[in-house]
Amino acid sequence: MSTAVADAAPAEEQAVQSYLVTFMLRRYNPEVDEEPKWVDYDVEMYPTDRVLDALHRVKWHQDGTLAFRRSCAHGICGSDAMRINGRNRLACKTLIKDLDISKPVYVEAIKGLPLEKDLIVDMDPFFEAFRDVQPFLQARSAPEKGKERPQTIAERERFDDTTKCILCAACTSSCPVFWTDGQYFGPAAIVNAHRFIFDSRDDAADVRLDILNDKEGVWRCRTTFNCTEACPRGIEITKAIAEVKQAVIKGGR
Ligand code: SF4
Ligand code: FES
Repeated sequence: MSTAVADAAPAEEQAVQSYLVTFMLRRYNPEVDEEPKWVDYDVEMYPTDRVLDALHRVKWHQDGTLAFRRSCAHGICGSDAMRINGRNRLACKTLIKDLDISKPVYVEAIKGLPLEKDLIVDMDPFFEAFRDVQPFLQARSAPEKGKERPQTIAERERFDDTTKCILCAACTSSCPVFWTDGQYFGPAAIVNAHRFIFDSRDDAADVRLDILNDKEGVWRCRTTFNCTEACPRGIEITKAIAEVKQAVIKGGR
């Protein structure tokens, strides 16, 4: 439970009043635990702190064995996606002031990928699906006059939304189809296929559409919108998947 740490502070100090917040972390050490277990930690937090700061304080001051991934701490690298109070989020983008700290804050690993330790999952299946859709520009002809490949503003706009992906896996690991069928490509792979399928400079849309017409491809999507709600970059994932489905039906972009 949260407790104000500095109730009677002068006005200028009240602006930085801290609270004791209880974090319930789902811990798992494969060397000693048969099952993951919830462990509680009380951490002094400021409203402008992020959940990532809480994990650092636990690791640095309470239990150095806590395992989690993070790199940039600013919503760019995509390495700290986790379930916070049952929702997939980036720990570095989740502010304490936006959580109900009158109750414990629950933090656990994302679902649908093999749990390795504490908040860390094996990302290999996720990146295999990403690689399978050939997420790189493929041009079958040389650019005119040997120069760059020009693109209009409208052509660039066509796939702008899906360029924002940081490969955090928040979408794929929030998808109920992916939870029950680990073979499904998942929303992140389809988002990254969309980014090249609709790029006017690319000539391999047919290859990617063929790959995604597979039984584990776009048709497995049940339009639950979990992915769109989970995406920390605000990408309209369900719309992108619908556009890829349309392209499969049309046989091209
Ligand atoms: S589409 Fe959004 S949620 Fe999915 S991997 Fe990319 S950034 Fe993360
Ligand atoms: S640590 Fe890089 S996105 Fe959160």
